[in-house]
Amino acid sequence: MSSHEIGDVAAHWNGPRGQWRRVEPRADGHAITVSRIADQFCSADDRCTHGDVSLTEEGTLDGCIVACRFRFGSFNVTTGAPVAMPCEAALEICPVRVENGIVHVEV
Ligand code: FES
Repeated sequence: MSSHEIGDVAAHWNGPRGQWRRVEPRADGHAITVSRIADQFCSADDRCTHGDVSLTEEGTLDGCIVACRFRFGSFNVTTGAPVAMPCEAALEICPVRVENGIVHVEV
């Protein structure tokens, strides 16, 4: 597992709360999402576990729930848990920490 610097909180996440973005730091080619939910940051695999769909590109984020528009499954992005069918497998979660105003994700 390695740490990737995602960006400065003030420069990249200083807008309305609940923002999210797709980031591609993983060596396996999988992108991750990094989300700001209220004052917390979280990160999860960007690929829907029901199909090969980017959640940030094909989904919507409402609070901590990301809905996949392809078949309308959804997940809690803070835990990775599926919350609506047809999604049954959880998203992989990546640890996030903020140091000196910089967001870091362990992947
Ligand atoms: S691909 Fe996301 S719900 Fe099926």
